[in-house]
Amino acid sequence: MACDALLVVVAGDSADAVRDAAVKNALADALAQGEFELKRGKTVYLHRPQGLEATRLVLAACGAPTPKSVKAAFAAGLAALKGGGSQHVAVVVLGAGDASAAQAEALVAAASDATYVYRHTKPSAPPAGALEKITLLAPKGAAKAVAQGLARGQAIAEGVTLARELANRPGNHCTPSFLGAQAKKLGKQFGLKVEVLDRKAIEKLGMGSFLAVAQGSAEPPRFIIAQYQGAPKSQPPVVLVGKGITFDTGGISIKPAAEMDEMKFDMGGAASVLGTLRAVAELKPRLNLVVLVPTTENMPGGRAVKPGDVVTSLSGQTIEILNTDAEGRLILCDALTYAERFAPACVVDVATLTGACVIALGHHHTGLFSADDRLANELLAAGADALDPCWRMPLDEEYDEALKSNFADMGNVGGRAGGAITAAMFLRRFTAKYRWAHLDIAGTAWKSGAAKGATGRPVGLLTHFVLAQAG
Ligand code: BES
Ligand code: MN
Ligand code: ZN
Repeated sequence: MACDALLVVVAGDSADAVRDAAVKNALADALAQGEFELKRGKTVYLHRPQGLEATRLVLAACGAPTPKSVKAAFAAGLAALKGGGSQHVAVVVLGAGDASAAQAEALVAAASDATYVYRHTKPSAPPAGALEKITLLAPKGAAKAVAQGLARGQAIAEGVTLARELANRPGNHCTPSFLGAQAKKLGKQFGLKVEVLDRKAIEKLGMGSFLAVAQGSAEPPRFIIAQYQGAPKSQPPVVLVGKGITFDTGGISIKPAAEMDEMKFDMGGAASVLGTLRAVAELKPRLNLVVLVPTTENMPGGRAVKPGDVVTSLSGQTIEILNTDAEGRLILCDALTYAERFAPACVVDVATLTGACVIALGHHHTGLFSADDRLANELLAAGADALDPCWRMPLDEEYDEALKSNFADMGNVGGRAGGAITAAMFLRRFTAKYRWAHLDIAGTAWKSGAAKGATGRPVGLLTHFVLAQAG
């Protein structure tokens, strides 16, 4: 086979699974020289290895062969090849049983991650390498599972890339109208029904809470309704709702200047539900999916909503806006009420909702909130399968107390304590008519610091969840 690099992932702590004589020799030598250890995270790069056709050989140890450690070994192996000229890498996993669908999927995810470069507003960004093609070597018996894993991985990778691309775009490029146009484009590409409502249409619906956030911005809001139909119309759809704040200044309750630029990522929920829609449309499962995105900027200004203002949501419930920076829940609540009209099988909203969630869970687990145990368990399982994990948080009635207001049915904030939970409790008040879960992705949707950028999470989790609904 004409590959110019071979990546061998070795699972476990023995080299017994290695059969090929040239690889066996290289491995034994690297181990003997202390260049390599069969320990998770270790890699070694060998140039022009003796007896092999490939120009480069990378050995990557993964320790116990869990999907997570195999994926980490793929990533480490590809990183070791980065900067070299490899165009076609052949990959084999030894000592972990037959190649599985999960392994194949993880390989595509790792490869996509290793090659993504944001360049829309930085065309000068250097390419991640020359990598063009990856081949996964597997026994004939595993071919079907591997092909399935590759297809799923490919669809998810395209969805993740779309989500990253949308979220990485600055606020002056990625406006509500831009997101609307992107949804329309997806619709054209995949034959989906996509409607994009403007301010007038949103007013006509009576989304007073959403409009209160939008009123401070010169940039017009949009409400996106996108539908994938893979089953008869009579089948209740899964509904995904994504927070689409294209820039969050905080409004009149303005945020401090430091790191405010990162609030361009406040449409990460919207990006991830559109990315999931793309992945699902590509894989064509037998189910119906509806994606809803309320999208606007949150700006201060002469017409902006003020602390103390009371607005009427689409549900009829009134809200005292005590803090204009708690705007995500104000746009989501009207979208959640709108979701009722689809008589959904379930509704999952996805939002970069609270700084409190970042404090609670950090950057590895997405916050999961649901009063429905079955739905919560399905989302936990989907996260585990996709290596895109979430962690369940409480949602007991006691937390509702904090939202009491003397001037409206509820306030929009509940104080600092348990801030991620009271935010979820606010949303819960709009979800009585269906099974519902909320994902707070404030800590997982993007990275800060030197590697600043969108992660594309939780497209993997959501795609696995939606596909599992097809049975
Ligand atoms: N978009 C932010 C949440 C956020 C903060 C995400 C930091 C990622 C990092 C949200 O609109 C917000 O401002 N939430 C407030 C809520 C508070 C006013 C109750 C927050 O978390 O401070
Ligand atoms: Mn905010
Ligand atoms: Zn926000």
